[in-house]
Amino acid sequence: MDYNSKIYVAGHNGMVGSAIIRNLKKKNFENIITRSSSELDLRDQKKVNLFFKENKLEYVILAAARVGGINANMNDLTGFLLDNLSIQTNVINAAYINGTENLLFLGSSCIYPKNAPQPLKEEYLLSGPLEPTNEGYAIAKIAGLKACEYLNKEHGLNYISIMPPNLYGINDNFDPETSHVLSAILKRIHDAKEKNKPSVKIWGTGNPYREFMYVDDMADASVFLLENYHETDFINVGVGKDITISNLAKLIKEIVGYGGELVFDSSKPDGMYRKLLDISKIKKLGWSYKTSLRDGITKTYNWYLENIIDTNKK
Ligand SMILES: NC(=O)c1ccc[n+]([C@@H]2O[C@H](COP(=O)([O-])OP(=O)(O)OC[C@H]3O[C@@H](n4cnc5c(N)ncnc54)[C@H](OP(=O)(O)O)[C@@H]3O)[C@@H](O)[C@H]2O)c1
Repeated sequence: MDYNSKIYVAGHNGMVGSAIIRNLKKKNFENIITRSSSELDLRDQKKVNLFFKENKLEYVILAAARVGGINANMNDLTGFLLDNLSIQTNVINAAYINGTENLLFLGSSCIYPKNAPQPLKEEYLLSGPLEPTNEGYAIAKIAGLKACEYLNKEHGLNYISIMPPNLYGINDNFDPETSHVLSAILKRIHDAKEKNKPSVKIWGTGNPYREFMYVDDMADASVFLLENYHETDFINVGVGKDITISNLAKLIKEIVGYGGELVFDSSKPDGMYRKLLDISKIKKLGWSYKTSLRDGITKTYNWYLENIIDTNKK
């Protein structure tokens, strides 16, 4: 990648997109183009085609998507399928027809079958039924990665699809309706501490395992892969270890400094039992993550206190 390459980061206001911008700037890439969803709704095919035609883009990083936790996903399978299909199809197709040769598509570890062996190797894709609570989102992501794979094979492009695990960090979503597990637990425990509550309820049994990656590590891997990965197939990006939700909650409790009890609400769904990614492929390329879970949660909590809590108080 040239330092003057014209790079469009779709979804730059989001958690992943903003981390990618930080990473690109740190690496001295300055020719970055952005549009918020109010300036350019990526579900609008005409507008997306016009935008690509007017801006000769050399690299596209597609971090715009309809994203949410288990609650949001299971209550709107239709919206998560159709919005994501529209966004990614419009962007990938516009990039292709307007001559953009390099693109990075953000997928997710939920593309893998519910009962696939662990850790999840790339080759397990489409080997069994998906987890039903986020099937709509997962099917859209599978369609996106296949579109990239076909364009690479049939048209010689470099459209990389990466499958990260659960991400968290600066600019995370703390809205109880749509947040993911880590930020949801962090907010609940923080609120319980502030209100001196003797206990705090956590969704599900606490037994499932999840792999968590700090978003700046994800961004670093994204830029690294754009520069160093030129195969046609998608690739997993992760930390290669996981933790139960109950141990995650205990760790968050310690970081927040909450003395109350954690109560697991088993009437709420757990989602997939385990989804640990096999990261041999990216390791072989020489990339690995840097931020430990404890350090990442501490950074995220400090950011939350400074940016969400302080802003709300003003
Ligand atoms: N968060 C995770 O744990 C996780 C895990 C694995 C993979 N991923 C993937 O990483 C990518 C980014 O996720 P994230 O966590 O950063 O999500 P996020 O914080 O919710 O950000 C998503 C961004 O997408 C943009 N967007 C949504 N709908 C749009 C539309 N119709 N037109 C234009 N822009 C639109 C939003 O733009 P505005 O802010 O301008 O509205 C927003 O900035 C997604 O592809 C997601 O599937 C995330």
